[in-house]
Amino acid sequence: MRKQIAAANWKMNLTYQQGEQLLDDILAANIELKDNQEVIFGVPFPYLTMAEGKVKAKNYHVSAQNCYNQKSGAYTGEVSVEMLKSIGVKHCIIGHSERREYFGESNLMLSEKLDLLLGGGLTPIFCCGEPLSIREAGTQNEYVEKQLEESLFHLSADDLKKIIIAYEPIWAIGTGKTATTEQAQEIHAYLRSVLAKKYGQEVADEISILYGGSVKATNAKELFSCADVDGGLVGGASLVAADFVEIIKGLN
Ligand code: PGA
Repeated sequence: MRKQIAAANWKMNLTYQQGEQLLDDILAANIELKDNQEVIFGVPFPYLTMAEGKVKAKNYHVSAQNCYNQKSGAYTGEVSVEMLKSIGVKHCIIGHSERREYFGESNLMLSEKLDLLLGGGLTPIFCCGEPLSIREAGTQNEYVEKQLEESLFHLSADDLKKIIIAYEPIWAIGTGKTATTEQAQEIHAYLRSVLAKKYGQEVADEISILYGGSVKATNAKELFSCADVDGGLVGGASLVAADFVEIIKGLN
């Protein structure tokens, strides 16, 4: 059975102390996860070790929000997969639309990051999703398919199975405008069919595809109930303990 996942993406928010408090408040809810459920906290680099120290319960994990696409060397300010691994981090978000837009990350660059993460034994949370203009033109399926093809399709089936995909329509991120359950289910099913075409249905059925874009305490359960929506990648609402607790409770 594929995993159902509530992943928090704090982005560049909160001080260290606020981050500690937020984790304490969420973990104090003591939500016991089923075997097929996971909670992942995507925190800023300087907070990873602190978060690793707190997040110990079964199926709760800590994630970085990015890594560099080179192994090591003269890349001032960048963080390598090896560095993340050496402090015990096991997950890493890559290809968030904000990184694609503000830092020029291409599908090719992301394929390199994927290889380094998988080579280091980390689980990539690979983000994809279309901008508003593409959604309005009705070509979102082709757009997202190309993102998968160019970043993922060089992987073996065994490696592909290690990845978590997050579909995040850019027009829904931080806008309060959530995709409807029908829109989310439709494109998630399409993405799974793209994976099935290349890797077979059995492989495609094992991959968790999370929805991201204005997931809230009030809509999480309904979104997560869609057959091909396996949880969420949550920005704004993951910064409020009570909201994120509700979102975790919304997992199937
Ligand atoms: P949001 O962000 O929940 O604030 O829309 C989601 C994301 O960008 O991961």
